[in-house]
Amino acid sequence: MTTLAGKSVLLIIGGGIAAYKTHELVRLMKTRGAAVRIILSKAAEQFVTPLSLASLSGEKVYTSLFSLTDEVEMGHIQLSRAADLLVVAPATADLMAKMAHGLADDLASTALLATDKRVLVAPAMNVRMWRHPATIRNVETLKLDGVAVVGPNDGEMACGEFGPGRMAEPNEILAAIIDMLKPRAQPLAGKKVVITAGPTREPIDPVRFISNHSSGKQGYAIARAAADLGAEAILVSGPVSLPLPPGVQVMPVETAQEMLEMCEGEMPADIAIFTAAVADWRVAAESHEKLKKTGSGPPSLTLIENPDILATISRSAKRPRIVVGFAAETERVTEHAAQKLKNKGCDLIVANDVSRDSGVFGGDRNTVHLVSAAGVEDWPPLSKDDVAQKLMERLAQMLVPQQKAAE
Ligand code: CTP
Repeated sequence: MTTLAGKSVLLIIGGGIAAYKTHELVRLMKTRGAAVRIILSKAAEQFVTPLSLASLSGEKVYTSLFSLTDEVEMGHIQLSRAADLLVVAPATADLMAKMAHGLADDLASTALLATDKRVLVAPAMNVRMWRHPATIRNVETLKLDGVAVVGPNDGEMACGEFGPGRMAEPNEILAAIIDMLKPRAQPLAGKKVVITAGPTREPIDPVRFISNHSSGKQGYAIARAAADLGAEAILVSGPVSLPLPPGVQVMPVETAQEMLEMCEGEMPADIAIFTAAVADWRVAAESHEKLKKTGSGPPSLTLIENPDILATISRSAKRPRIVVGFAAETERVTEHAAQKLKNKGCDLIVANDVSRDSGVFGGDRNTVHLVSAAGVEDWPPLSKDDVAQKLMERLAQMLVPQQKAAE
């Protein structure tokens, strides 16, 4: 039986009918040896009592943000940081909306905002609420913030409707908890990984620029995965609107030249991964004043080529042991990628199929092919997070072959 001995879980119970199942969840966690502290949201108190949960957990149950004794004994910040993991079950539509927007108006939401630990949510709500665009948006936001989600399951609901919305069963939530708390190998401990991400922005004048639609999602996911494997992860990022990934050092830049300088300044490194969609050209002479309409037609802009950051680092004296490029292709994907592998002098190209309505740009899924001197490896369609994790595990094995990467 997998143990949770020595682990501490903060269980935050939301106000839904599924709250009754948390009795069983607490019992299962305790059987595995976990210490369980509990926060009840105000609405949850309508469904379960602090007394029953206190006797199951053997710990005081916290209910109100403004209880002075609780604040003296253990402040809400300490409460959320003393845990190894926060579990929200049932995660109601309201509680997830608060989490997604950073609201903190009671003990449950304040603890969730104040934590620096991983969070698992087990959503439970009416099927229409689950399918509402607002809930879909909020769950997406939470996933981007690194929150893990278990369930909901399909089935008949307390309200009489049928569909997805039933909270995952206690044993399923327990399995997710065990998975999140299991010790992970850190094959990249002591290694430095530099990642470029996002677009670059090349100024035309003080108010206009040339750029592209890159969201930066794949690069951010890779940086997070590198940090998860123990690496010092440096993310050289063009302008994007993504949350800062935990454990990653973000170095913001705007132009291709700034991105190159920042990367050069971060060398030496063990691995460099270039996911950025660098603008190929910049305006030769940026205007320091806003360009005005003169009545004699549009201005003509002379473009000059930007430095190729990947090729420059790959051929530099401080070349990292492993250099990885990305290639966005619409046809003859692997053939073009193999050519780039040679031209740019890297060890691996992750070729992205951006043809058809692949939804790669700005989307959350990727179909990639790994192209190296050894040949081509086709990966199935995966989420950008899964691509990141698989890629970093592979690179860790290439860098430290004697060690087995994280399971
Ligand atoms: N890259 C880079 N600096 C540039 C251009 C590209 O570091 N100035 C990197 C990208 O981050 C990516 C790889 O090179 O890892 C391939 O980029 P891509 O734009 O697909 O290749 P290009 O060389 O620009 O070729 P083309 O646009 O003709 O397909």
